[in-house]
Amino acid sequence: MLTRADAVALDAADPLARYRADFVIPDPSLVYLDGNSLGRTPRRTLARLGSLAGEEWAGRLIGGWDDWLSLPSRVGDALAPLIGAHTGEVVVHDSTSVNLFQLVHAAAALRTGRRVVAVADDEFPSDRYVVAGAAQALGLDVRRLRDGIRLGDVAVIVRSLVDYRTGEAADLAGFTAAARDAGAIVIWDLCHAVGAIEVDLHAAGVQMAVGCTYKFLNGGPGAPAFSFVDHSLHAKLQQPIHGWFSHRDQFETDSPYAPHLDARRLLIGTPPVLSLVGAEEGIALTAHAGMAAVAAKTTALTQFGLALCDQAGLMSPTPRDAARRGGHVAVVHRDARALVPRLAAEAHVVADFRPPDIVRLGCSALTTRFTDVYDGIDALMNLAASA
Ligand SMILES: Cc1ncc(COP(=O)(O)O)c(C=O)c1O
Repeated sequence: MLTRADAVALDAADPLARYRADFVIPDPSLVYLDGNSLGRTPRRTLARLGSLAGEEWAGRLIGGWDDWLSLPSRVGDALAPLIGAHTGEVVVHDSTSVNLFQLVHAAAALRTGRRVVAVADDEFPSDRYVVAGAAQALGLDVRRLRDGIRLGDVAVIVRSLVDYRTGEAADLAGFTAAARDAGAIVIWDLCHAVGAIEVDLHAAGVQMAVGCTYKFLNGGPGAPAFSFVDHSLHAKLQQPIHGWFSHRDQFETDSPYAPHLDARRLLIGTPPVLSLVGAEEGIALTAHAGMAAVAAKTTALTQFGLALCDQAGLMSPTPRDAARRGGHVAVVHRDARALVPRLAAEAHVVADFRPPDIVRLGCSALTTRFTDVYDGIDALMNLAASA
């Protein structure tokens, strides 16, 4: 029988517990289990935004661009080791949806002759919409991704590594290998994986990926997303939005368009500098803690959460096998839609709801305490019993 004392003991023994002090937490009594939607605010981000606006922008004015121009690739290079990528393969820019659109085009251009893009019916909505829109623009067909699908004529597959509803993690290496053997390129959506679990893109043979920085990486609301492309594809990579930030001689206005020879080929226009430094600070904190330690804490938090769900009689579709899950615990309940606002109003617990019947409890390694997981699930159990 797990008790709150067990959670207190786990917090006391947690090697990452000290990282909570690196975040702005105005109300320590709030049980925040939604860092899988929006991570908390790093203290250094506050200071950095202040100095960026007050000194770099106000003081240096246009001269600030000497440093800001390289931010998308600099922040990408800082993020690369967290996902098993190399320098020059990751850029931080735009939103996950825009980046996915670019990569669907780029991947399809590498597989001319194949007419199909595959995506699952229950994939994250924006990914499905982007696939449908890109397929329409390219004159391709969309096929439903499911077990046993024929991949023989598939050019591109879009798939989340961690399911945004159930928290289930796909077999990154196994699925990528099967797709590559069949001649298809998989674009992995890492939104719910990056900064939560260990991801080694090169070890898994991944060719393309996208993801965001505002969830487990604590980059801040609207922090830009990232794109990864394996270096062996860079020279051939053609993406549809040719902006001046992808042009090698950006300020040679008379030179014909000639894109960079690395992932900067995916850049489009002026980057959101204020948001990019938020991403940079969030990534730096995770890198400082170490991805292995962060992933180990994620596993411990979710394991504790699942054990509590079992004890409380709450039904969770999140896999028991730690290698097959991400950074949140899902609870299925017929009243999930009503339970989430009640958790906030009656128990001071922030979780989120995903249709049709899922309560998501996010476990962010740098900020979530075992006592938060305990209190959140305890409150959910009590409210569910009275629902
Ligand atoms: C799995 C997944 N993919 C894509 C997106 C869309 O991201 P963006 O708003 O950066 O385009 C989200 C947003 O939460 C997401 O969770």
